[in-house]
Amino acid sequence: MSDFFPGLAGVPAARSKISYINGQQGILEYRGIPIEQLAKHSTFSETAYLLLYDRLPNQKELDLFETNLRHHRYLRHQLIDLIKCLPNDGHPMDALQAAVAALGMFYPAPPAQSEEENYWAAVRLIAKIPTIIAAFARLRRGNDPIQPQDDLTHTENFLYMCSGKRQNTETSRALDTCLILHAEHTMNASTFSGLVTASTLSDPYTVISSAIGTLKGKLHGGANEQVIGMLHAIETASDVTTYISEKLEAKERVMGFGHRIYKVKDPRATFLQNIAQDLYKRSPESHLYEIAIEVERVMDEMVGHKAISANVDFYSGLIYHQMGIDPELYTPVFAIARVSGWLAHCFEQYKDNRLFRPTQIYEGQRNRPYVKIRDRTTRAS
Ligand code: SDX
Repeated sequence: MSDFFPGLAGVPAARSKISYINGQQGILEYRGIPIEQLAKHSTFSETAYLLLYDRLPNQKELDLFETNLRHHRYLRHQLIDLIKCLPNDGHPMDALQAAVAALGMFYPAPPAQSEEENYWAAVRLIAKIPTIIAAFARLRRGNDPIQPQDDLTHTENFLYMCSGKRQNTETSRALDTCLILHAEHTMNASTFSGLVTASTLSDPYTVISSAIGTLKGKLHGGANEQVIGMLHAIETASDVTTYISEKLEAKERVMGFGHRIYKVKDPRATFLQNIAQDLYKRSPESHLYEIAIEVERVMDEMVGHKAISANVDFYSGLIYHQMGIDPELYTPVFAIARVSGWLAHCFEQYKDNRLFRPTQIYEGQRNRPYVKIRDRTTRAS
């Protein structure tokens, strides 16, 4: 009997040159560059270019890419009208998925995307996703969407469109670093979902719409929103041991911990923890950071032996909370970043495509007779 690997654990689904993870040593590289270097020295738009084109842009290329992104931040009024019709109490990830699928209808791409078409689809998606998220966030609260500002960077502009306020450099830089850290991560569930869609030669907008739907789940990108809820539910650091023990005894998952690949602390979590520490140093809510540190200590004590450590979702929510971002927007922020990795994998798949069509191990019945309804007993047949 052929082997079966639940969740395709350990099964390579593609050959790729986009990012590399060593789960035992906690290494993550984008196009061969260590994530720590990019988080320290790069910007999200430069990192997006690196992921898409396998090299860092020169100044002229970066200026042109950023100009194109700025130019395409705006939404057509029909798309804003569509977003206005969505239920205010709906989840922003559902609004994002619906709007991105609709976006593609305004830019019908021919089946076999050319490099040129792919470039413009990537520019529109990277540029418009923050505007879509901010517009829904404003409209659902009864406010008008705020227009993009051409003099702001990609990240500054998103923060501005959410609040109408220009954030200080520390905040914008912290969020830009978060976007770099969330941009790409090999064959995670949402990337795989996008790849399956790309392998049918669906267009990039539909590919990204598939990936958004997959990222939403709380076992994947949706964990960050759950983490902040947990940190608020724990009153003080001294309550952590009881809280975590009860969860583990109930066989519940502690969100923000564990990973299919990392068997040590996620290197992104380490970087995000440092950002959180800086942001909470002078915050009146510094107790939240203390509770988070205690949760990590207790989890290490109780399940560290099972190689369950903090992952990327554990500290990101703390950072976004400090920035005043609505918890329901944490996973959409993840999508603002990950759209660059999704697109890189989508275009890599187009270049050397084979339709994803796995098989199964059939365990059902065979050759059952069709029984006419008058002959069926009341018991389910
Ligand atoms: C992301 O894949 C990626 O790269 C994703 C991501 C990316 O950048 O794209 O890194 C982003 O999605 C990070 C993960 C965010 N999700 C969460 O924080 C949700 C909580 N985590 C778990 O649900 C879990 O760790 C997964 C889903 C992330 C990984 O699950 P696996 O690899 O399928 O592991 P498993 O479910 O088989 O668990 C193995 C054991 C089990 O115990 P036993 O039944 O063997 O006794 O570890 C336990 C699990 O119960 N376990 C946990 C746990 N995670 C695993 N126990 C408590 N809390 C947890 N968080």
